[in-house]
Amino acid sequence: MADLSLDLCGVKLKNPIIAASGTFGFGREYGRFYDLSELGGICCKGLTLCRREGNPPPRIAETPMGILNSVGLQNPGVESFIENDLPWLLTKNVAVIANITGTSVEQYVQMAERLAGTGVHLLEMNISCPNVHEGGVAFGVKPESVYAITKAVKAAAKQPLIVKLTPNVSDITENALAAEEAGANAISMINTLTGIAVDTNKRKMVLANNTGGLSGPAVRPVALRMVWQSAKKVHIPIIGMGGIETGEDAAAFMLCGAKAVMVGTANFTDPFACPRIIRELDAYCDRQNVRSAQELVGTLEENG
Ligand code: FUM
Repeated sequence: MADLSLDLCGVKLKNPIIAASGTFGFGREYGRFYDLSELGGICCKGLTLCRREGNPPPRIAETPMGILNSVGLQNPGVESFIENDLPWLLTKNVAVIANITGTSVEQYVQMAERLAGTGVHLLEMNISCPNVHEGGVAFGVKPESVYAITKAVKAAAKQPLIVKLTPNVSDITENALAAEEAGANAISMINTLTGIAVDTNKRKMVLANNTGGLSGPAVRPVALRMVWQSAKKVHIPIIGMGGIETGEDAAAFMLCGAKAVMVGTANFTDPFACPRIIRELDAYCDRQNVRSAQELVGTLEENG
């Protein structure tokens, strides 16, 4: 068996497999299927200061090799999370990442301040949600605003800060660099690619919000390319995600430069996806004669 453990911004993870925000709730449903302590980490559903109902339905559309979602950040609010979900999660012996979002820089700062005294291990600042009309991806498109919001939240945060980047830009590496320069401890990439679904019989948009975010294996080649490009530019850890379904997919992200990975959409089709991917990554390391999975990071051989 390979050593899958790692240090992510000072937090010890048993392995590099983290359940991705928005696909795992706060862990309770999956906790009925397996022991959550098997995971490297759990990234909770995006939290806002107040409870949100999210967007009206339909807000999910299946696509070939993926899904479009326009959930609209439905969540119970940060106070409910701290009171009802976090105490339960903290008994599970797994790193807990709170994904935070808001409609103004001040709201993001307040979220970081509110979570400072809690047992949350890491913060993931979501400036890449494409499904809300205020905030979300608005802060994540231009390097100047990525820099400004990262600087402000980093000053308030007591936990290491991960900045989650959008792929819906011309050069994601500029935003990766802006986050690093502003003091981010890590970056995670990629959030979803904006798309639409068309009901040709009704000649109508499928999603009530018109647009949604595409995730699943269809986006994997794009995500791999963006991780590979960003790893050449930044020195902080990268957490890779985008359509990971197998241990070899996870390994591909690590070869491209990701220190850890997040598994999202695969949880919907296989509730056991994360523990299976951990086992498959272990087997891959054995086949490659790699004793520590971290030896894989950034070792992709390039052509020409
Ligand atoms: O709409 C949503 O709740 C999705 C959030 C995200 O992609 O960050």
